[in-house]
Amino acid sequence: MNEDKPVLLSGIKPTGEIHIGNYFGAIKQFVELLNDDSRQGFVFIADYHALNFIQDASEMKRLTRDLARAYIACGLDPEKVVLFKQSDVSAHTELAWIFDTITTMPYLMRAHAFKDAEAKNKEIVVGTFNYPMLMAADILLYDASVVPVGQDQKQHIEYARDTAEKFNRIFGETFRLPEPHILSDVAVVPGTDGRKMSKSYGNTIPLFASREQLADCVMGIVTDSGNDRPENVYAIHRLIKTEEELAPVYEEHKGKYKALKEALIDDLDAFIAPMRDRFESLTNDTEIDEILEKGAQVARSHSEHKMDTVRRAIGVR
Ligand code: ADP
Ligand code: TRP
Repeated sequence: MNEDKPVLLSGIKPTGEIHIGNYFGAIKQFVELLNDDSRQGFVFIADYHALNFIQDASEMKRLTRDLARAYIACGLDPEKVVLFKQSDVSAHTELAWIFDTITTMPYLMRAHAFKDAEAKNKEIVVGTFNYPMLMAADILLYDASVVPVGQDQKQHIEYARDTAEKFNRIFGETFRLPEPHILSDVAVVPGTDGRKMSKSYGNTIPLFASREQLADCVMGIVTDSGNDRPENVYAIHRLIKTEEELAPVYEEHKGKYKALKEALIDDLDAFIAPMRDRFESLTNDTEIDEILEKGAQVARSHSEHKMDTVRRAIGVR
């Protein structure tokens, strides 16, 4: 690996079926950014973050492998990118603890994710409260400079930056400040009900959906009556086609929501098919586990190097 290349890093929690919001909001960006070889890529499965939600061993295993398969199906090449599981690299949780000791409770209480979780359920777990510190560790361990994520993760990147600055101020220059990478036109992919697409809202279109599943999801898209153009259909259509390509279709079927939805089903199916085929062909669990173990070895060697500097800086070594 070339040490001089800027590091791109990103991760996703294995908490459910990957949907087109994850793809357009995050995965597509890092696959494209990693295609030109000018960056070193670290892409991981945030299983310790997911442990806040998934507390069933076989489910955790299945979702983890499926996310690895999804990354590869979307175009990540494990020969070029370090693809690994967070839990395989214990430096992540170790560094998160170190960050806990320089971070105040009121600061973490200002996090949107904490406030949302608290609003829904007063008895949130400490892991949810500390979530941003583990995420800061994920990013800062690898000196990442570019972190492609969806809009909802922007605050977490700011927390990582603040934490790096605070550590550097207390213990001396150690961490590089990361930048988020958010594309504005796909920053928030709408779901079938028009709200942000999210597995927690049950409004997703799965990325590897069969044509039948796609048809069900698209036919269920909530349409706003009284408008010639169904905005929720159009917004999803725009992710895969340009305005110029769509203009004649929407002109021809003005006000005919069913025909427009059928056009969207065709286009989504054509777009998804190659990734779906690849996803379905990756059935060998041993092969997936080997890819993740190989990635973990590289990630461990990078992170151990960084942890050596960190341990010296704080005086435990
Ligand atoms: P979910 O909201 O379905 O639980 P996650 O929180 O697991 O999704 O998100 C994984 C990644 O996908 C994150 O980088 C997130 O920003 C991105 N993402 C999720 N939903 C969307 C969306 N609707 N639009 C854009 N990006 C999204
Ligand atoms: N918090 C991110 C999400 O919910 C997942 C994540 C964990 C992540 N660690 C990260 C993303 C580090 C980018 C960088 O989607």
